Amino acid sequence: MPGHQIDEAVIAVVGASGALGSRIARKLAEQGAKVIAVGRDRDKLEAAQIPGAVLVEGDLSDATLGDRVVEAAAELGALDGVINAAGVVAFGPLADTDDAVVEDLFMTNVIGPLWLTRRVTPMLSEANGFLVNISAVVAEKPLPGMVAYAASKAALTAADQALVRELRRAKITVIDVRPLHTETGLATRPLAGEAPKLPEGLEPEVVVDAVLAAISSGQNEVEASSFA
Ligand SMILES: NC(=O)c1ccc[n+]([C@@H]2O[C@H](COP(=O)([O-])OP(=O)(O)OC[C@H]3O[C@@H](n4cnc5c(N)ncnc54)[C@H](OP(=O)(O)O)[C@@H]3O)[C@@H](O)[C@H]2O)c1
Repeated sequence: MPGHQIDEAVIAVVGASGALGSRIARKLAEQGAKVIAVGRDRDKLEAAQIPGAVLVEGDLSDATLGDRVVEAAAELGALDGVINAAGVVAFGPLADTDDAVVEDLFMTNVIGPLWLTRRVTPMLSEANGFLVNISAVVAEKPLPGMVAYAASKAALTAADQALVRELRRAKITVIDVRPLHTETGLATRPLAGEAPKLPEGLEPEVVVDAVLAAISSGQNEVEASSFA
């Protein structure tokens, strides 16, 4: 697939209040994109200070979130890209992980993104656009103590790999990004459990730059090994 231009593109960033999502959104805006910043909390979206962003409030557990993204994009005339930088983590043995936590992990990391994808692909297709999902290294190398998180990220990556081919005819580039541990503080706010001692993580900007480079080049994945 050819690469995508960022200047003047309309790009929705889901999880735009997050450490990676806010940085990605600000960088896209700096490079001339019109950003639709999507998140659960309007105050947090405003605090992310994304220049010129249109804000869309909503939760990935709401199947209609994608409809609101499409409505906001229609006001701007197009939808060239969607970047899903939302996600949650949990730690600890599976036996000690509550049912509701397992459900929340899959809702935010897999089901919500699939519901969103169903709704945004027609408009992305009109623009020969792109879809990015931020998965994780554990999709490739699942770890004990993160069973449900790793399984959810592996499911997201599997979906992306199938979507690469399914959406080729619709001329949508699907990009699966699998970062190593990154110093965003995510590990300090798990849904449950406590993070194991982790090695020093990547600088968030390294992941941000990898996402933007993948969009520009039109590649379908950024493997974990490329961050090493
Ligand atoms: N940091 C790492 O070490 C690392 C490594 C590999 C992959 N990743 C992945 O990178 C992505 C971004 O992580 P991050 O480090 O930037 O973490 P973060 O700062 O905690 O950001 C997570 C984002 O997800 C949003 N979110 C959570 N649940 C949601 C829901 N139900 N509906 C809509 N949005 C929801 C959060 O919204 P609120 O602001 O409202 O909470 C926040 O914007 C995640 O998918 C994560 O798994 C991170």
